[in-house]
Amino acid sequence: NWTPAHFVEETVQDLKDKVGDGKVVLGLSGGVDSTVAAVLLNKAIGDNLYCIFVNNGLLRKNEFDSVLEQYKGMGLNVKGVDASARFLRALSGLSDPELKRKAIGKTFIEVFDDEAHLLEDVEWLGQGTIYPDVIESVSVNGPSVTIKSHHNVGGLPDYMKLKIVEPLRMLFKDEVRRVGHELGIDSELLGRHPFPGPGLAIRILGTITEEKVSILQEVDDVFISGLRRWNLYDDIWQAGAILLPVQSVGVMGDERTYERVVALRAVESTDGMTADWVDLPHEFLQEISNHIINRVKGVNRVVYDISSKPPATIEWE
Ligand code: XMP
Repeated sequence: NWTPAHFVEETVQDLKDKVGDGKVVLGLSGGVDSTVAAVLLNKAIGDNLYCIFVNNGLLRKNEFDSVLEQYKGMGLNVKGVDASARFLRALSGLSDPELKRKAIGKTFIEVFDDEAHLLEDVEWLGQGTIYPDVIESVSVNGPSVTIKSHHNVGGLPDYMKLKIVEPLRMLFKDEVRRVGHELGIDSELLGRHPFPGPGLAIRILGTITEEKVSILQEVDDVFISGLRRWNLYDDIWQAGAILLPVQSVGVMGDERTYERVVALRAVESTDGMTADWVDLPHEFLQEISNHIINRVKGVNRVVYDISSKPPATIEWE
């Protein structure tokens, strides 16, 4: 009979047996899976777990600092690495979505590898892989990275030559959340909406600049904090804002403006594979639109995305 308490007890013992006094390095993303994996490992091996939390500069407003503080408050041995400038450089001039994803993935590996090299005698790589990831990597992409790494050791970054430890490998998302509650992890963190690895880079259509990132962070913050204030956040699978590569004419006082357009998107879903747009209250949309246009400099128009998946995807890129 599966219970979170039993899972925690058994897994912590297994991790102790498996890792012993070996060192583990793990990348934290701010998401549920990597956080729960880290807390379990920390419970088993304490400060022999070395966590690395990378700021790619494409997270939500204030997210890097606040989540880093949260991690420290949980007693994790974590190092925050601000690599924003490096990611921005890697993205410079790129507008194709897949090229952006590749540049971000490659930069992440480089940053993580650099950091992992600073640690001595690490034997293990911890990962927050969950059961749907295991299935997906086998059925869609062939053998997962961990399996491939055995065939390919030469070409991979050094940290990928480490032995892998994945304590959540057999769990579904809802079970991971229940384990997280059992471990005393903050329910706000456990209830976070999914957020894509490439972050705001795939919500800024076209090329990425520091200015665009900061405009989108402000817009997103107005939207997401509004959803929380109106108690809508927890009923939604995922929400966010998209910065469009067009300008539109507006009027402010006696002045004609020619500024940016943002789209808001909120969807209901159970697994992200299909999704319906959320019929948010009109008063809410009106309030958020006013706040954005009044408070975020450079934006003069807000639209709401009413497309479902399929045929649209959740992200615009
Ligand atoms: P789409 O846009 O394909 O998104 O309907 C489905 C879910 O996947 C997330 N997503 C990503 N997550 N890296 C990620 O880690 C990515 O490149 C990526 N692209 C989309 C998206 O946010 C949604 O939850």
